Amino acid sequence: MKKVWKGRFNKEIDKDVYNFNSSISFDRRLFKYDVLAGQAYAKALYRIKILKSDEMKKIVNGLQKLLEKENTIDFSQYEDVHSAVELELVKLIGDVGKKLHTGRSRNDLVSTDTRMYLKDEIIVIKKLVKNLMRTLVDMADKYKDTYMPGYTHLQHAQIIAVGHWLLSYFAMLKRDYNLLNFIYDRMNYLPLGSGALAGSNYNVHRMTMAKELGFKDITENSIDAVSDRDFVIDFLYFSSLLAMHLSRLAEEIVIFNSNEFSFIEIDDAYATGSSLMPNKKNPDIAELIRGKTGSFFGRLMAGLTMLKGLPLAYNKDLQEDKPLLFKSVDEIKSILEITEKFLKNIKIKEDKLSEQLLDYFMYATDIADYLVKKGMAFREAYEIVGKLVAYSIENKKSFGRLEIDELQNFSELFDEDVFDLLHPEASADAKCTPGSTSFKYVSKQILAAKIFLQFAK
Ligand code: ARG
Repeated sequence: MKKVWKGRFNKEIDKDVYNFNSSISFDRRLFKYDVLAGQAYAKALYRIKILKSDEMKKIVNGLQKLLEKENTIDFSQYEDVHSAVELELVKLIGDVGKKLHTGRSRNDLVSTDTRMYLKDEIIVIKKLVKNLMRTLVDMADKYKDTYMPGYTHLQHAQIIAVGHWLLSYFAMLKRDYNLLNFIYDRMNYLPLGSGALAGSNYNVHRMTMAKELGFKDITENSIDAVSDRDFVIDFLYFSSLLAMHLSRLAEEIVIFNSNEFSFIEIDDAYATGSSLMPNKKNPDIAELIRGKTGSFFGRLMAGLTMLKGLPLAYNKDLQEDKPLLFKSVDEIKSILEITEKFLKNIKIKEDKLSEQLLDYFMYATDIADYLVKKGMAFREAYEIVGKLVAYSIENKKSFGRLEIDELQNFSELFDEDVFDLLHPEASADAKCTPGSTSFKYVSKQILAAKIFLQFAK
């Protein structure tokens, strides 16, 4: 039970209280950042002559040694990571280590450490998002002229390219990627030098520390600096949104993998069996991605609720931000990695897709548009095709097998060329707006996606 705060107390702290208060079990993850922040701070103290040159060097080198022997430190004896670093430093270099915390508070330090940690993690997560995006584009390229039913209300709606379907997830992930950059930017301000809440009596040069520690700028208000956790909320929101996107993909995979759909086949190495039913091959991975999403939302709610109504400035409630943040960081990384692997190893069963494309009702809109091209008002054309659909159901005749004279009973405008519409590519290629499922616009999306992946920072 080694602590940095003593003097004011006449009794030793109760053991249970100490444990309840302690954060070392989770915040030791910030060790490296606490050391780096300490080194920049020691240099700042030296520049204003609080530390002599040799004192500063002892501290900076001592902290460096701590980094190297991190594995050998018994963290359990300390209250939190900041105490661990400070007390280990004193143990290593002696009393001069006691000068490091001059004008510094754990309040400005913990916010600094957490921001540094999260900035590094965001860079890793950006790579993982990009990997998944790349997999989606490669698959979209492969399946840009393979067709499948597109759904609304989980009912056959219109024909789409498989590549187009895959690229819809690319579009979501691109927004997620851009959001990562945005939140990175929002947390890129150094709190160090804000002291406990009011600022510091030592005029440490904050901008120099910001530069040394890789921050774009310094926070503008010391009270806000030590009590703001928006950057944590930003990440909890980002990870919720990304998990939600991936849960939609996961759900579609579960559906497409069902016996009734059977559009895809999951690789044996990525599926699991049943303990009882020898016939089962289950999409557990997709289900877990879907299932874990709820906890991301839970952590976002927990973070927001922790901050709601919290008086300024620092309160110990804020310590609870880290388990939420760390869990979301770990989980989103593992979900991104597994989704990418899982997706790469999915087989698309083109024969099953073709079977579904024999549902000619999916061409109904194209046929209405055919009549429009021949001069009919859309609402009228819509009604005629509606009647054709009813006729085909009543007479149990496939919509695609109606004879020309049957069609002409509904409108004189029908000609033999209407049958040219009844091919998946024709239906897809009739879509001519940017962003649509035609070969032209799917190819354009793929090109734009590849450019994005190459140049996005
Ligand atoms: N472990 C604390 C946290 O994570 C560090 C800051 C402690 N500050 C304080 N005034 N007790 O928030």
